[in-house]
Formats: sequence, structure tokens, C-alpha cells
Amino acid sequence: MDVLDQFIEKEEDRYVVHTFLNRTFRLDKQKARERLSGKKVINGTKSAELNVLPLKYHEAYRIYKQMKANHWEPDVIDMTKDCALWNSKNLSARERWIIEMGVGYFSAAEGIVGDSVLHVIEDNLTAAELKHASLRQIAEESIHMDSLLHIISSLNIDLDEVTAKFQDIPSIRKKNAFITRHMPELKMGIDLTITANKQKFAKALFGITQVMEGTQFYALFAMILSLHRQNKMTGIGQMFQYTLRDETNHIALGRYILEKLIEENPDIWTDAFRLELLEFMREGVELEKEFVLDCLPADIVGMSQKDFLEFVDYNADRRLTSLGLPPLSNIKFNPFHWLEEVIFLQKEKNFFETRVTEYQTSGSMKNTNEDDLI
Ligand SMILES: [Fe+2]
Ligand SMILES: [Fe+2]
Repeated sequence: MDVLDQFIEKEEDRYVVHTFLNRTFRLDKQKARERLSGKKVINGTKSAELNVLPLKYHEAYRIYKQMKANHWEPDVIDMTKDCALWNSKNLSARERWIIEMGVGYFSAAEGIVGDSVLHVIEDNLTAAELKHASLRQIAEESIHMDSLLHIISSLNIDLDEVTAKFQDIPSIRKKNAFITRHMPELKMGIDLTITANKQKFAKALFGITQVMEGTQFYALFAMILSLHRQNKMTGIGQMFQYTLRDETNHIALGRYILEKLIEENPDIWTDAFRLELLEFMREGVELEKEFVLDCLPADIVGMSQKDFLEFVDYNADRRLTSLGLPPLSNIKFNPFHWLEEVIFLQKEKNFFETRVTEYQTSGSMKNTNEDDLI
């Protein structure tokens, strides 16, 4: 049974009826089969026409719908309490530093992800529904950047001062350089029929979505959400809560595209390449631990360095094992299990006593996959 047959409810002489997510489409059978045969993750038929139908990569379309259902706008997040606390003496220097690191690191990182998803991933994809979902991700990275602007303007932070402060932090510089070093070549449109180039593409996809978004974003998210849990900087916490929910979808989308890419191009998945990905993650983990120690130079109330370092290992291993790669550590349990509730917002409506479900639009779906929670 091919992909199209799974969605045939009724077959007429010339038409197939294609149903997905409660929508029904009547398609010319011959043309639908032609379009379907040209659909591939890379090196498929390129067309400026709308060739989303018939869907081949259903999960990408489902994730796209879910991303849309989670839509949020930073501007409407109330920052009154954050401003009052920021301008008072009730926020310790270390807590203030965590917020500054959040603004400093993510201001650059969200831009790197958005630009890389556009020029390195989306540009090289050929199947319409994959491009469609990637474009939605890029739009969400812009929302994340906008949320940082909302924070900067609300707290009256001097942007140049913040930028200057973080430009020279070695752990941030190293993290950013590590993730972007392989990107320039891919931005120029390399020949993706060559195995070595396909591996470069796969590695970039893995790097952006599993190493950076899936591993290197999480410790700082958890630090800011730990403050939120203590009722500190709750507007910022709410924005990071929504951002984290979005990132869950980005990680799932990246993994899905990677799985399909490997399925269609088994020449990529050599032992040597798997080792290369493991090494890539190992380096990412090392840099992230250095960064965690910069963000949290000593334990503070509700936050222990040990937990955050273990959290880095825990996330890295989850990303690796979900792709059939071996784990790098022995950490089996999430030291911040409460974060799962943060992601699964529908379950915990009043978890932070904020309006967490406001942006869950009607008809929205459960999260991508409960396995993806954090
Ligand atoms: Fe983001
Ligand atoms: Fe993202």
C-alpha cells in the first residue's frame, strides 16, 4: 500500500478522495500520483506551484497545524511585575545575571536559528509540506526575537550595553561559532546528490534542531523558568514558557525531517557518519556545560549547578537516542521533571497562576508527542 492509498476513502474513475485532519480533498488520480512520486526531502521535484497535495509527509503538516495553534504574541505579555522587581532590590545579583544571560544569549541564538533554518534547511528541502512547516518555524523564531525586544524595552535595558557585555563571553562566542561553522557552504546551494554533501546537510539539520535547539537552549530556559516558579520575573517566564513549547515542535520537526532524509538516502547513515554526529553532540555538550557554569557560577536558592549539568546530559541523550544513536552519559532521569508540566500547558492551566492557555486556540491539538516533552 503506498502513501496515497492510506488516505483513499473513495476511489472514482478519475479522482481520489484524500482525507487528512478532518479535511477532504478531491484530487485527479493521475496527477496526484505524479506529484507524489516527485516528492522527496531533498532532490525532489521543484515547483513554484502549490504541490502540498497529496500529502506525503503527514507528520510535518500535523506539526505545522500544531505550531499555528500555539501562536502567541509577546507584546501583550504584561511586564508590570517584572519591571517592579527589576527596579527593586529584591532580585539578587545572580538572579539578575541569569536574566541578562537569557537576553544576551538568545538575542543572537534566535537569529542564528532563524537564518539557518531559512538558508540551510528550507532552501534545500523540496517537498512542499516540509518547506511549509519550516517556514512556520522561521516565523516563530522571529516571534522569539520579538519577545526579547519586548523584554529589552520593558526593562529599559540598554541594548548596546547588553550586546557589548555578551560579545566577549567566551562560552557564548564558542557556542555560536560551533554551530555556524558548517553553515556557509550549505547556504550556497551545494550538490545534494553527492553523499558527502547530503551528510553535510544532515549534520546541519542535526546541529540546529537537536544540538542547539534541543540541547543548548534548555539549561537557560530551565533557569529562567525556575525563577518564574519562585514568582520572579513572571512576564519573562511566561514568554520563555511559550518559547519552550515552540521549541518542542521545532525539535520534533527537525527529527522527523532527518528521519525521512535518512530513510530516503540510506547512503548517509554510515557508521563513520553516526560517530561524527555523536562527536558533534559531545562537543555541543561540553560547550553547554561551560556556558551553564557562566550563567550559574554558584548554587543559588532553587538552583543547583549539578542539576543543570545533569540536565544538559539528559537532554543530549534524549536527542541522540530518539534518532537511534547511543547516549553519551548515564543520566536517566530529568532533574527538572516539573518542566514537563510547563510544556504540557493544557494540563496545568494555573501552574504559574498566569493565563497559560490563552494562546491555545480552539481546536488545537495535544503536544507533538508526549515523548518530546522537554
Ligand atoms: Fe526559537
Ligand atoms: Fe526554534
